[in-house]
Amino acid sequence: MTQQTYVTLNNGVKIPQFGLGVFLVDGDNNTEDAVIEALKLGYRHIDTAHAYFNERGVGEAIKKSGIPREEIFVTSKLWPTEYGEGLTYKAVEKMLKRLQLDYIDMVLLHHPMRDFIGGWKDLEKLNADGKVKAIGISNFDKDFNKLDELLKVAKVMPAVCQSECHPYQTQQKLRNALGKYNTLIEAYYPIGHGDKNLINEPIFTKLAQKYNKTNVQIILRWHIQYGNIVIPKSSNPVHIKENFEIFDFELSPEEMEEIKKLDTAKYYFLVPFAEYEKIIDGYNENVAKYD
Ligand SMILES: NC(=O)c1ccc[n+]([C@@H]2O[C@H](COP(=O)([O-])OP(=O)(O)OC[C@H]3O[C@@H](n4cnc5c(N)ncnc54)[C@H](OP(=O)(O)O)[C@@H]3O)[C@@H](O)[C@H]2O)c1
Repeated sequence: MTQQTYVTLNNGVKIPQFGLGVFLVDGDNNTEDAVIEALKLGYRHIDTAHAYFNERGVGEAIKKSGIPREEIFVTSKLWPTEYGEGLTYKAVEKMLKRLQLDYIDMVLLHHPMRDFIGGWKDLEKLNADGKVKAIGISNFDKDFNKLDELLKVAKVMPAVCQSECHPYQTQQKLRNALGKYNTLIEAYYPIGHGDKNLINEPIFTKLAQKYNKTNVQIILRWHIQYGNIVIPKSSNPVHIKENFEIFDFELSPEEMEEIKKLDTAKYYFLVPFAEYEKIIDGYNENVAKYD
């Protein structure tokens, strides 16, 4: 089993730097299978969300794994319809039930919409009450006004900002904005949501040959050395294993620099705010149903 790395969040909580993302893993049963497979291989960090409709599968897998609770780091995310003082507290209590957990390691505000300030205030209370060990945000990288609004009132600074991040988009602006709070970047779409153009960049093919690894393993190793928390999704057991085997080699500083040249600040997911809001609202009904 490879030795994974841990990083320390700005509140002192330790988090495995690498985890399994379960966005688009279809349903609780498939999610349970993927999470059990990952936990067997040594993964100790799972990233889910209310809007992935599979938190119950995550909870079931953790229970069945027999692994001590404190060894596993679970992140989930609240939907904008769950934001608001009083409302968010209750939403997390329901989340705890869906996950069959006494506490959640980290809860994020999934999108910078609706009453995210009220949501944050409740997250701070949940954090103080020990129901949530760390609190963070997601997708606050495209509208810095909202980020500033939150940071102005926050008593607890976000532990992470989970954002699209890969070699084409290294999130320099966000890193600069959050560096003084020691808020870490948690990379979603770490392999470009599976984009073959990114995965097959010649630099990754060259390094894959050198280190006897796959191109995806080179990209994931780059994330680790770049200091990102990284949560690639897979429901394919071969990929789940492959993605975790990145802790037995190291890219040189020159190779890290060469990969940096791919950064064009490209986003795979970029739409005008009104359209973004519409896409998000499209989930509201199903989020309410997966209660
Ligand atoms: N906060 C947010 O708004 C947000 C948004 C998006 C994602 N996320 C989080 O970030 C996680 C990762 O993002 P993502 O799932 O969208 O994109 P991703 O991890 O960059 O890519 C996932 C895609 O790559 C494929 N893949 C995985 N390992 C592979 C390998 N070794 N070789 C070839 N293909 C491979 C997967 O297919 P297989 O399943 O077939 O392996 C899947 O199609 C999500 O699961 C979620 O937890 C958060």
